[in-house]
Amino acid sequence: MTGFAPLPLRLETERLVLTPEVESDAPWFAELLTARGTGTFTVDDARERIAAMAVVVETTGIGARVLRRREDDQALGYCAIIVGRGTLDEPEIAYELLPSAHGHGYATEAARAVLDAAFATGRTRIWSTVRPWNAPSLRVLDKLGFRRDHVTVDDAGEIVWLAASR
Ligand SMILES: CC(C)(COP(=O)(O)OP(=O)(O)OC[C@H]1O[C@@H](n2cnc3c(N)ncnc32)[C@H](O)[C@@H]1OP(=O)(O)O)[C@@H](O)C(=O)NCCC(=O)NCCS
Repeated sequence: MTGFAPLPLRLETERLVLTPEVESDAPWFAELLTARGTGTFTVDDARERIAAMAVVVETTGIGARVLRRREDDQALGYCAIIVGRGTLDEPEIAYELLPSAHGHGYATEAARAVLDAAFATGRTRIWSTVRPWNAPSLRVLDKLGFRRDHVTVDDAGEIVWLAASR
């Protein structure tokens, strides 16, 4: 029990339907993880992560939703509410799209719906942590009304913490 309503499993926007990750998402999810450039992820690796995320969704009521394009049911990436560097009361929003899906406003469209849904669970502050060089992500957050709060440092450099409140 978290004291918050669960994030709806299905959300809809003008161009997208957002639903939980399922096992058949593993091939494109492996592609997305590999596109980070930090190593190669197999379909089995992706399947393991999807199974772990299903547990998160079940036990915490938050977690990831896949962006599926209405017109062709194509999976484009995910948007999530996760504990991340935050807490269950004040979690983080996260999003990652396949490179081929960048530049069409999909992240903003999905994240806006997910953020609204996160506030509708009863939460009043949502965080995002971003590397300062990640201009596209910072722009998405700006469009969603996030404001810079503070900066921390880890082994990989600076992390910008932004917050949205309602
Ligand atoms: C961040 C990410 C999800 C954005 O997805 P997207 O669907 O292309 O985002 P949107 O189209 O909704 O918005 C991107 C905005 O950034 C802007 N942008 C893109 N590249 C930019 C750059 N190099 N510098 C400044 N702004 C840039 C776009 O013009 C757009 O703003 P606009 O609507 O004012 O024109 C995508 O780039 C991604 O998956 N990146 C890799 C994973 C990642 O970094 N995730 C976030 C971790 S914190």
